[in-house]
Amino acid sequence: MNLEAKSVSGRETRYFCDWEAKPLQLRMLKLSFLLIILLISTVAVPVFSADRYRREDFPPGFIFGAGSSAYQVEGAAYEDGRSSSIWDAFAHEGNEHGDTGDVAIDEYHKYKEDVQIMAQTGIDAYRFSISWSRLIPNGRGPVNPKGLQYYNNLINELIAHGIQPHALLCNYDHPQALEDEYGGWISRKIVKDFTAYADVCFREFGDRVSHWTTVNEPNVFAIGGYDTGMAPPKRCSPPFVFNCSKGNSSSEPYLAAHHMLLAHASTARLYREKYQGEQLGLVGISLYIFQSIPLTNLTADVAANQRAQDFLTGWIADPLMFGDYPSTMKRNVGSRLPEFTNHESKLVKGSFDFIGLIHYNYLYVEDNSVSLKEKNRDFNRDMGVKLYYNLSAYEFEIRPRDLQQILENFKSAYGNPPIYIQENGQKTRRGSSLEDPSRVKYLHAYIGSVLDAIRNGSNTRGYFVWSLWDGLELLDGYESSYGLYYVDLDDPDLKRYPKLSAHWYSHFLKGRGVSLDGIIELEKNLSGVSKDASFSRMISM
Ligand SMILES: *[C@@H]1O[C@H](CO)[C@@H](O)[C@H](O)[C@H]1NC(C)=O
Ligand SMILES: *[C@@H]1O[C@H](CO)[C@@H](O)[C@H](O)[C@H]1NC(C)=O
Ligand SMILES: *[C@@H]1O[C@H](CO)[C@@H](O)[C@H](O)[C@H]1NC(C)=O
Ligand SMILES: *[C@@H]1O[C@H](CO)[C@@H](O)[C@H](O)[C@H]1NC(C)=O
Ligand SMILES: *[C@@H]1O[C@H](CO)[C@@H](O)[C@H](O)[C@H]1NC(C)=O
Ligand SMILES: *[C@@H]1O[C@H](CO)[C@@H](O)[C@H](O)[C@H]1NC(C)=O
Repeated sequence: MNLEAKSVSGRETRYFCDWEAKPLQLRMLKLSFLLIILLISTVAVPVFSADRYRREDFPPGFIFGAGSSAYQVEGAAYEDGRSSSIWDAFAHEGNEHGDTGDVAIDEYHKYKEDVQIMAQTGIDAYRFSISWSRLIPNGRGPVNPKGLQYYNNLINELIAHGIQPHALLCNYDHPQALEDEYGGWISRKIVKDFTAYADVCFREFGDRVSHWTTVNEPNVFAIGGYDTGMAPPKRCSPPFVFNCSKGNSSSEPYLAAHHMLLAHASTARLYREKYQGEQLGLVGISLYIFQSIPLTNLTADVAANQRAQDFLTGWIADPLMFGDYPSTMKRNVGSRLPEFTNHESKLVKGSFDFIGLIHYNYLYVEDNSVSLKEKNRDFNRDMGVKLYYNLSAYEFEIRPRDLQQILENFKSAYGNPPIYIQENGQKTRRGSSLEDPSRVKYLHAYIGSVLDAIRNGSNTRGYFVWSLWDGLELLDGYESSYGLYYVDLDDPDLKRYPKLSAHWYSHFLKGRGVSLDGIIELEKNLSGVSKDASFSRMISM
């Protein structure tokens, strides 16, 4: 990634990052979140109206949960017939950190204990993903009975504890076999294979799974995996980026996203026609949303910001809502942007019962429309903008108004669809402390902003903290952490320990106080508590 320090205002240093891969920047990306920038809030938590709120202020039926995904937590990568996914290959190619999900936090073997912790915490729902290559090791064809058994066990355990299973079908981890055979998402063949895989999941687990999400954040998956090459399957091409062994950054991001949309739509149709009547679940897709802000109020930057929103959000959201790509994209990308036939357009439009939103952070957008004059362009050059992230701190800045604004935008631009916030949370360094007040402040502020949006009419139905556990992160490995629970990777038993944020979330979910004063008091109450004592305290909550 082109990462260069740039003094913008003369007083503070910003960094320019144009989505191209360089190792330094690689480390900045988190799994489900691609380009991440970190800022910490050195100032007080912003004042917002839902500062003091309780769980019962949310509408009846509103779901609070926490999430994880298969490769990030399961481990048992070579056990019981599982085969490799593109993420296995990516992790083993050798990142600076060298971390893999071979063992991860071993949820595969510890799911019973984990579900118990979830129940003690008081979450309504667990968002997990199914490993396609564990269930159907060759990508299509025979189902692995051990894979079937594992997900049945996990789902049954969740149900037995009153926790709703929210299952995701693909999180950067389609089977390597399909990547080798036809290039995974760049081939239209994957639409059929994905739909057949989903059919197995609906048939086998659909009697108990209430919410299905098809593809995770197709927008950043397509950019990271096929333009910059910083995410699996690590495809990109010169002159934009130089370190991929294959790929085409001019065309593949568009092709991959197109096939993700078609696979999603075909899967949603299958669910609706064959399963929904009986199983009564819901099907949706998720989107990664940056809050984008024009770098200046100059007309060019304001227009650039609109283009960035069309490319980053409209790319996926417009086909789902209106049946076609934004006109800016058609104009700038030209024949490299696949077209929907009439039939496909109808299939994609409205192919969801809910939209999952993933949000962590914001970026600044500056006009760079000169790049549109270049003959050879990738996604970033087609967008004609420069994106700036504030890299001045490790943790995310706390800007809850951003999330409220995003929900307002979905209300006004997209007709207020049902929304689940599927990922939102604070990044800290792994293992720094069980006391993570910045995570508590972040969650407190963002959950409050969701309440503000709901009070103003947003159709948001649920909120999931990313993440329940400190697991493997896409680009940081085990270096960064998002979890409510710390997992001691040096302990052969991989013991889980609640952080302050787990206590806070649990208090909130159980209807106890969540005011900022309460957080400070809780922190005091818990400070100095040893890991083990803290764990028993958790158990007794
Ligand atoms: C490509 O990878 C090599 C080895 O990891 C690294 O030294 C080099 O800087 C990378 N080149 C670019 C342009 O990122
Ligand atoms: C960047 O982040 C730092 C630390 O959170 C903050 O103080 C500063 O205002 C931010 N800069 C911009 C331009 O947003
Ligand atoms: C990438 O794809 C475009 C459009 O199909 C084509 O014109 C271009 O030559 C390809 N580039 C490479 C490096 O293969
Ligand atoms: C742009 O204008 C808005 C509204 O007047 C103001 O709040 C904001 O600070 C301005 N942004 C910049 C970068 O000057
Ligand atoms: C609340 O909703 C109204 C109507 O949709 C909108 O005009 C207004 O800007 C929203 N308020 C906030 C604070 O977003
Ligand atoms: C902190 O401890 C005191 C004394 O045990 C207790 O009354 C109070 O409820 C605790 N506060 C929180 C937020 O748990």
